[in-house]
Amino acid sequence: MVDAATARHPGGPAEQTRTGTPLVELRGVDKHFGDLHVLRSIDLTVDRGEVVVIIGPSGSGKSTLCRTINRLETFDHGTIRIDGRELPDEGRELARLRAEVGMVFQSFNLFAHKTVLENVTLGPVKAKGVKKAVARARAVELLERVGVANQADKLPAQLSGGQQQRVAIARALAMDPKVMLFDEPTSALDPEMINEVLDVMVGLARDGMTMLVVTHEMGFARRAANRVVFMDAGEIVEEADPETFFTAPTSARARDFLSKILTH
Ligand SMILES: Nc1ncnc2c1ncn2[C@@H]1O[C@H](COP(=O)(O)OP(=O)(O)OP(=O)(O)O)[C@@H](O)[C@H]1O
Ligand SMILES: [Mg+2]
Repeated sequence: MVDAATARHPGGPAEQTRTGTPLVELRGVDKHFGDLHVLRSIDLTVDRGEVVVIIGPSGSGKSTLCRTINRLETFDHGTIRIDGRELPDEGRELARLRAEVGMVFQSFNLFAHKTVLENVTLGPVKAKGVKKAVARARAVELLERVGVANQADKLPAQLSGGQQQRVAIARALAMDPKVMLFDEPTSALDPEMINEVLDVMVGLARDGMTMLVVTHEMGFARRAANRVVFMDAGEIVEEADPETFFTAPTSARARDFLSKILTH
């Protein structure tokens, strides 16, 4: 197994040679849905400022992994730390740690009856006690950053899918998260809107945001990812820098998967 850290420091096990500060750390995370062993002893570290792409067949556990990281799902065994602190099961500490993890889903999940601007200000005002005027100013700034400031007073349904997804990114950023999780953020979009969302994500990556991104967009992985993690059947099967993974995957499972997504 080769990951980005090993690639930068050939010869040493990744965990010993990793140079960054771990921001998200999963150790031996196991999860079942009934009889289905959906996460199998997952060890994964995402360093501060690192962009990790997760790729793998449908049902391999990618969404469950994301949801487990901010405790939208419980897990059976193991530990998850965000910035050195273990995720508690419940309570105020969990709410606080969860606010440090921004999440963007495949479906945009905006509040349908609130304007774009309200969607972005609501979290900081309600959950963090930020003053309305301060939250609005920051929301306008974020909407500008994702290129939809001119849509601020519209309702989500009046926006294209690509615009809604960019609002969802702005809404997550408004909470000042330490890490952003993206679960197939472009897979519900029409092809012509995919790039406008990916461009925003590439911009975030360049600005140093720590990101864990479930996507099959190889262009994004090549442009922005430090590392690709390949999952199958609840396991991390292989990790490598994007170029190595896409051109010379070592496992039969990854080769098989890539041959399928490359030929469709
Ligand atoms: N709430 C649930 N209850 C029971 N089984 C579930 C639940 N959520 C997911 N699963 C099962 O867990 C497995 C992993 O699902 P998950 O959604 O994490 O996969 P995925 O890799 O994200 O797939 P996809 O690429 O289709 O989004 C699948 O077999 C799925 O059917
Ligand atoms: Mg999924």
